[in-house]
This record gives sequence, structure tokens and C-alpha cells, in this order.
Amino acid sequence: MSRTPATLTASSTIDQWLGHPEGGPVLRGFLAQAGTDEAALGPARSMPLQQLVALSQGALPQAAVDDLVRRVNGGIIPEADGSAWQERPVAGRFEGRTVIVTGAGSGIGRATASRVAREGGRVIAVDIAADRIEDLTASLDDYQVVPIAADLTDAEAVARIIAGTEGRIDALANVAGINDDFSPLHEVSDAMWSRVFAVNVEGLMRLTRAVLPVMLDAGRGSIVNVASEAGLRGSASGVAYTASKHAVVGITRSAAFMYAKDGVRINAVAPGGVATGIPMPGTPSAFGSARLEAARVNIPSIADPAHLAATITFLLSDDGVNINGAILPSDGGWSAV
Ligand SMILES: NC(=O)c1ccc[n+]([C@@H]2O[C@H](COP(=O)([O-])OP(=O)(O)OC[C@H]3O[C@@H](n4cnc5c(N)ncnc54)[C@H](O)[C@@H]3O)[C@@H](O)[C@H]2O)c1
Repeated sequence: MSRTPATLTASSTIDQWLGHPEGGPVLRGFLAQAGTDEAALGPARSMPLQQLVALSQGALPQAAVDDLVRRVNGGIIPEADGSAWQERPVAGRFEGRTVIVTGAGSGIGRATASRVAREGGRVIAVDIAADRIEDLTASLDDYQVVPIAADLTDAEAVARIIAGTEGRIDALANVAGINDDFSPLHEVSDAMWSRVFAVNVEGLMRLTRAVLPVMLDAGRGSIVNVASEAGLRGSASGVAYTASKHAVVGITRSAAFMYAKDGVRINAVAPGGVATGIPMPGTPSAFGSARLEAARVNIPSIADPAHLAATITFLLSDDGVNINGAILPSDGGWSAV
């Protein structure tokens, strides 16, 4: 149950809006006009109202959120009261460090790359989408970002990424990944299985294999692999994605054990639901969707990509000094269910 704030703002959660004597009717009216209701929001109710702008990918414009806030505050947009979570970058935490971040063009990877850069690091920002990493680089004009457009399934691209580091790699965040179509084992196509494994497992393995000699030579390094709740349980996605993220967990544990005496730490973060635009390839399996829908009621909250960046940068940085081989859920408690 979330506390009802005295003043509703865009930083107040949807739950707080719904529980507010004025905000509840205003938001319910808005949802009804949009042809939906609060039940359809599911675990997204734990998110700040503001996050719906990014999550809806244009369906809910900023102007509509501003309008809702004005309607419950006598026509003005009040200052946020500071009670909502705020990212607090640690000045200089990555000073002098070169950090490769894959999937840096969107979602969790973008938030991680941005935070490392703002904490003083030189970021090698990798993504298959050239326009997205150009956009990231432009948004971090005063910081050190080297954009490298590369498809991680392409062996030549891995060599280009290593060349772009100019011989120094202190940390690697393997964030890039793709979804499956929720298909169960009796339905999964060879194409879906191969594509998901090519990106989520083989791409991660090949880049990490190329990075490790540099770290082992230096006698230090930190690697964070992004797994998923689907790497911890069977009820979070389809078989291809679930198996791929279990493989990421296995790669993490094996490497952590192998290099434990060589100064290289390897950990994984297992996100729960995160408000990103991660695409669903094709039409979701009806069989898989129905099974997953029933399990999804256990998701306590949907995170902002910056929440995951906070977890990932902690492990990437020297703050994670004694942590090796951990599979750290960053999921608002989903894995405790
Ligand atoms: N969003 C979630 O709810 C969630 C939950 C658990 C785990 N994850 C994992 O977090 C990671 C990031 O997901 P996100 O939600 O930020 O997704 P996203 O789609 O917003 O970002 C992923 C990025 O990876 C890039 N990418 C995809 N294939 C690539 C390739 N072959 N080579 C290089 N770049 C490639 C995409 O262009 C994209 O910019 C993924 O590994 C995903 O499996 C996400």
C-alpha cells in the first residue's frame, strides 16, 4: 500500500494517484476516455505517472500528463516534493576508466552508459542501431562517449569494438538482448531459437571472450551480464528467452569461478519488469501468453531503466569489490515470490 502524498505530481505513482480523493477520479476518467481502466495497468501501477509517457511510446503525450497534474493542483504544475527516488550519480566513480556498454542505444543500456559517462568514465557505446547511439552521444556532449555501431552477432564487429577501446578496458556491461515471442517448447521455431541465442548468448560470449585477455593482462576488470527474471524461473517468458538467460547465468558463474584469482569479477543482474521499449518479435504465442499472464500477477513493480543502471553501475564499479559470481535480482522483490 503506498502512502498518499499531500500534493500529486507527475512523480507520484499511479497507485498514489488512484488512491487520492481528487486524483483517483481524474485519472480513472482519463483511462475510461482512452478505452481502458486501472486493471489493465497491472504492475505498472507502481510506476510514477511520468513513466507512462515513455512506456506508451507516444500514446500518452507529455501534454496529457501535464494536464492531469494541473487539474488536481488548481491549474498549476507544482514542484516535486523530493520524496520520489532520484538518481544520484557518484562524482568521479569511473574517472580514468574505460567501460564498454552494449545495447547502449535504448532502455537499460542507455541508462547505464549515461550514468557511467556522467560519473567520469569513458564509455564505448555499442548498439546495432547507429542512430540511437548517435543520439545518446549527442545527449552527452560534455562527456566521453565513443559510439560504435555493431551487430554483436557479427564476429568482425567484435574486433572493431576491441579496436575502439585503444587497449584499455576496465569494465564491460553486456546489456544488449532481444525478446522472444513467448512461445513454449512445442511451438518454438528454429529461427526464433537461433536468433535469441545468437544475440543473448553467443554475442555476449564472443565479446566477453575478446575482452578478457585485456583484463587478465591488466590483472583487474569487472564484467556485468544482464540476465533476467527469466534466468531465475520458468514463468517469465518463452522457452528460447528463458533458456538464453539461464545460459547467461551459467556463463557468469563459470567465468566468476575461473578468474576469481586473477582480479576479474563477473556478476549478473536479473531485472524484473522494466519500462523500456524492448520489442516483441512477431505475434506473441497465444498459448504462452495465456500461461504467462496468470504468472504476471506476482510482479510487484515495474522499474525505470535508471533503477537498473544504479544496480549495474554498482557492480561494475569498485563499490562491488568483494562481489563475484553473484546473480543479483533487481526486480522490486519479484524473485522473493
Ligand atoms: N525490459 C525488461 O523488462 C527486461 C527484463 C529483464 C531483462 N531485460 C534484459 O535487459 C537487457 C536490455 O533490455 P531493454 O529492455 O533495455 O531493451 P531495449 O530493446 O530497450 O534495448 C536493447 C538494445 O540492444 C540493442 N541490440 C539488440 N540486438 C543487438 C545486436 N545484435 N547487436 C547490438 N545491439 C543489439 C537494441 O538495438 C537496443 O538498443 C536485455 O538483455 C533484456 O533481455 C529486460
